[in-house]
Amino acid sequence: MIRTIYWEDGAVVLIDQKALPLVERTITCRRYEEVIEAINDLTIRGAPAIGVAAALGIALGAQGITATAQDDFAAAFHAICEGFARTRPTARNLFWAIEGMKQCFEEAREAPETIRKRLLDRAIRICEEDVAINRRLGLNGRSLIADGAAILTHCNAGALATAGYGTALGVIRAAWEEGKKIRVFVDETRPVLQGARLTAWELMKEGIPATLITDGMAGYLMKNGRIDLVIVGADRIATNGDTANKIGTYSLAVLARHHGIPFYIAAPVSTIDPGIQSGDDIPIEERNADEVITLGGVRIAPVGIAVYNPAFDVTPHDLISALITETGVLMPPYGQAIAALFRKR
Ligand code: MRU
Repeated sequence: MIRTIYWEDGAVVLIDQKALPLVERTITCRRYEEVIEAINDLTIRGAPAIGVAAALGIALGAQGITATAQDDFAAAFHAICEGFARTRPTARNLFWAIEGMKQCFEEAREAPETIRKRLLDRAIRICEEDVAINRRLGLNGRSLIADGAAILTHCNAGALATAGYGTALGVIRAAWEEGKKIRVFVDETRPVLQGARLTAWELMKEGIPATLITDGMAGYLMKNGRIDLVIVGADRIATNGDTANKIGTYSLAVLARHHGIPFYIAAPVSTIDPGIQSGDDIPIEERNADEVITLGGVRIAPVGIAVYNPAFDVTPHDLISALITETGVLMPPYGQAIAALFRKR
């Protein structure tokens, strides 16, 4: 199994996703600032993986706090949390993980050694549980994929976007493991090509039949009856079901509706933001222009051209056929389904 991120010998180890698929290597972060840098520069990316990286990174930072007075220790801990909170604004799992670590800190107000140990235990648990959650999510969603189906996916919502197994790719993996003959069409996903570099790599490693297409080809394939369903991940879901995901997802949802093709979101409950009622309120990260004016490090646009680079868009809930989570498959109306889910918890 692909292990995207883990704790080993007092350090955070993660697969270097910037180097994939040409080079397979891990990098070892011994300082929490290196984990922050890895999140910022997309060495590790994908909302659940970012959450896990923040949890492990905060635990790593806490191991290095030398203050012994309770207030000084607390100030240093919160400064570390702030550093992580400034990285990727759209990824709900980032803030969910930081909240979890802060809660753990509050519960563990004891001697520094105890706090450090508790924080590390909690972070490792967040990492391990992420894989288990994705497996459950995969089992819940696999019946939505018929034997012989052609599936379109966008970006990378696979093992690499999580601690392991994946969300959208987790559902696809579960269908494949069940013996279904499927084919996955992979959007390359400009500007930084998570589809071409990461999803294509993961599917090939697993032996799942995959075909790479450029983003603009999706409509043509749908029109020609080549796609049976679309399944993607999520970076943040509002309580009415509106879903932020990699830029280009909204266009796919509109195309899918036009062609009468089901459009599914697969995400853990930790991606649903109980504090945001509608997609209009989801913060959308804007990234550096270099991502757009270069391809593989080579400039492809004229010097001086204006660039706009929103990293995510929001798909309105009425274009989503179902939300696949580890607790079950949520159907519209999502407002009610999500409220019931949080009530149960
Ligand atoms: O900018 P990225 O690569 O972090 O964006 C990732 C995505 O949009 C994924 O589709 C999303 O996080 C779901 S991952 C399980």
